[in-house]
Amino acid sequence: MQVKNRFNLPKLTVVIPTFNEAGNISIIVEKIEATLLSKDFEVLFVDDNSDDGTIDAIKMLESKKSNVSMLLRVGRRGLAGACIEGILASKSDLIAVMDCDLQHDEKKLSEMLSRFNSNPNLDLIVGSRHFDEGKVTTGLSTIRQIGSRLAIWSTQKSLGIKVKDPMSGFFMVRKSSVMPIISNLQHNGFKILADMIASSKGKWEIQEIDYEFKSRQSGKSKMDFRVAFELLGLILSHLSFGLLSIRFILFGIVGFSGIFVQLLSTFVLYSILDFPFLQSHIASIGIAMTSNFSLNNLLTYKDRSLSGKNYLKGLLSFYLICSAGALANVAIADFIFENIGLWVLASVAGSLLGAIWNFVFSSIFTWKTR
Ligand code: GDD
Ligand code: MN
Repeated sequence: MQVKNRFNLPKLTVVIPTFNEAGNISIIVEKIEATLLSKDFEVLFVDDNSDDGTIDAIKMLESKKSNVSMLLRVGRRGLAGACIEGILASKSDLIAVMDCDLQHDEKKLSEMLSRFNSNPNLDLIVGSRHFDEGKVTTGLSTIRQIGSRLAIWSTQKSLGIKVKDPMSGFFMVRKSSVMPIISNLQHNGFKILADMIASSKGKWEIQEIDYEFKSRQSGKSKMDFRVAFELLGLILSHLSFGLLSIRFILFGIVGFSGIFVQLLSTFVLYSILDFPFLQSHIASIGIAMTSNFSLNNLLTYKDRSLSGKNYLKGLLSFYLICSAGALANVAIADFIFENIGLWVLASVAGSLLGAIWNFVFSSIFTWKTR
């Protein structure tokens, strides 16, 4: 048994984000215990208010084991945010993050731990999935393998990250290394590792350990096509030196798509269905606003997506906010044009102000992020 440190704090915290993983809770703890044996560790589940019995399963273990605990988040969703809060709440200096669904290989934890013990300068060890050429990895469908490779390649190239698997959700990191960059990390998104490595700006000593990504035993993956948009947002956010948040970038992409929606619907209404231009144009603005609202609800605010009655309420508030945004847009453009006389500047400033207006007010009143 390792000697506990002065304050009886564990040496390692295994942070496990969970969302509807009831069937996997006790198994993962057993597996971690079997591999870490008497090593000094705690397991911290970070749950986003699952409704499938996960919370009870964790509470049961919590009552039996002094080194198992739970951080329960209510009214929030998101893998990256859950990991960040788990890291903040952990009591040790070494933190491992791994999935609850047994896809990551817990046996690698001991090797990661001993590498940290023998190297005080080490900041991070990444558990990298093998992607042997030609060999189908068991844990991923073919389409996800292709998507995964594309995501890895584009992240490596755009953010200058050298590790083999920056998309991995399995890693061990030193808390004292993460703390200086913790406020730069983005809570919306799935890819906290890529965010951490990019934020460390090449200053970290990083090692990798290969492991085999296994198939999920029970429950369902929470990953879907929207994760790709969040990754794009994360990359662009880093390329803007952190000036733009993932949310603002996604909001901008959706806003941009609105231009095409408006053009297309004007084309259909005016050119094909022969409605008068003004009516077609006004209807198209409504259609574009509705499409922007729906896409933002699906992508930009996927963690606080509105449904049912709240969807309609949200839509109404979005119409109001965007209409006021259009007025603000016209007002500033008119002011600049009258005073400076440059139409391009007036037009760009108007659109920018309109976009920022819509983003700020809809995030407060429509999706209630504040
Ligand atoms: N608290 C919380 N909140 N946990 C979440 C959320 C959330 O919104 N979404 C997912 N989780 C938990 C799941 O319960 C699981 O324990 C873990 O995070 C990973 O979710 P999966 O849905 O199983 O993701 P995956 O298997 O498709 O992808 C994972 O593994 C990949 C390979 O390492 C993720 O970790 C990816 O980021 C990673 O690329
Ligand atoms: Mn998984």
